[in-house]
Amino acid sequence: MTSPGWGLAGRLLAAMTVVVLAGGFTAWIVAAAVGPVVFHQHMGEVGMGAGPAAVMHAEEAFQSASALTLTIALVTSVAASLAVSVFLTRRIASSLGTLTSAATRIAAGHLDSRVDRPSLGVEFDQLADAFNDMARQLEESEALRQRLLADVAHEVRTPVAVIGAYLEGLEDGVTTLTPQTVSVLRDQGARLARLATDLAAVTRAEQGARSLVLAPTSPHALLSAALAAARSGYDSAGVELELDVDPGLPTVAADADRMSQVLGNLLDNARRHTPRGGSVRLSAHLTEAGLVRLTVADTGEGIDPDQLGLIFERFYRVDTARDRTSGGSGIGLAIVRAIVHAHGGTVTATSAGRDRGSRFDIDLMPAPGQPV
Ligand SMILES: Nc1ncnc2c1ncn2[C@@H]1O[C@H](COP(=O)(O)OP(=O)(O)OP(=O)(O)O)[C@@H](O)[C@H]1O
Ligand SMILES: [Mg+2]
Repeated sequence: MTSPGWGLAGRLLAAMTVVVLAGGFTAWIVAAAVGPVVFHQHMGEVGMGAGPAAVMHAEEAFQSASALTLTIALVTSVAASLAVSVFLTRRIASSLGTLTSAATRIAAGHLDSRVDRPSLGVEFDQLADAFNDMARQLEESEALRQRLLADVAHEVRTPVAVIGAYLEGLEDGVTTLTPQTVSVLRDQGARLARLATDLAAVTRAEQGARSLVLAPTSPHALLSAALAAARSGYDSAGVELELDVDPGLPTVAADADRMSQVLGNLLDNARRHTPRGGSVRLSAHLTEAGLVRLTVADTGEGIDPDQLGLIFERFYRVDTARDRTSGGSGIGLAIVRAIVHAHGGTVTATSAGRDRGSRFDIDLMPAPGQPV
């Protein structure tokens, strides 16, 4: 909301005028009170006593010279104040105007609007930088929101279409309710339910550190719990599962439940992408930088280098058709990344390429206050 009244130029000019007038008034008072006394004294010192007409004349000359000087100084100062106010106001107003119109454009949905640094001093540069940061973040979250909506719509469309088509067929009598039809309908319903659960899980994970309950946890305890939970799935898939934890590792500040979700997702992926007869190794060791590294490495189908940067995105699957039939929504690694980031850690994927295995490294800071 804008309030009517004085603009920036008016305020600046008023402030400067007050300063000039205060200075002028003080100079006037001082000149009127002190000037004649000093003048008189000097006249006395050079031997001209009070009284003669010459002294009166000299005093009058002094007073009018003082008045003239002060008036000229005052007028010049007011003119200079006016010039400075106008100049500064123009500079500031043009920078603020750029900022205002950029903000208006952003409010109207043009999130790519940015402003240049106005070169009006560090404060204005900081304002421009902060504005650009804000605009960039808005743009990123808007892009994320749109992609998420598109992804969700895409995921929901297929099961809903299948259910709709079957129901129509049943209504028209084209299809009959056989155990197979029921199973298709149930599968599609389960897929929708799983999508809802996954979305809730990824949203929760992305809420970040707020929801974590951190406690010093030994890497061995984390990995062996994950191994125990995954064991039966691996046995039935015919994939070997090994554990290899360096002795004497420091503890990490971790939420054990959320980390078991992370390791569970990685182990689930490794099992699903490793053929029967392959193996998956779960290991922990200290990096050169003093971080605790948890690794899930498999001997399976591997990941192409150009896909490595994408697999952590929500709903991303390398082989959409096959991964869909094998039950993935493409959300597991997004959850992994969100939880690891909330712990202040990093997760990276590496692979030597197709059929040459994949490896996921999670680097965590050791819990504070312990010998490394
Ligand atoms: N160990 C792995 N080996 C090969 N490819 C992998 C491996 N882990 C993940 N991927 C690829 O990364 C994609 C994304 O994995 P992510 O865990 O996010 O989704 P998903 O496993 O398909 O589904 P979800 O985990 O939601 O059930 C997978 O679809 C798969 O193509
Ligand atoms: Mg997964």
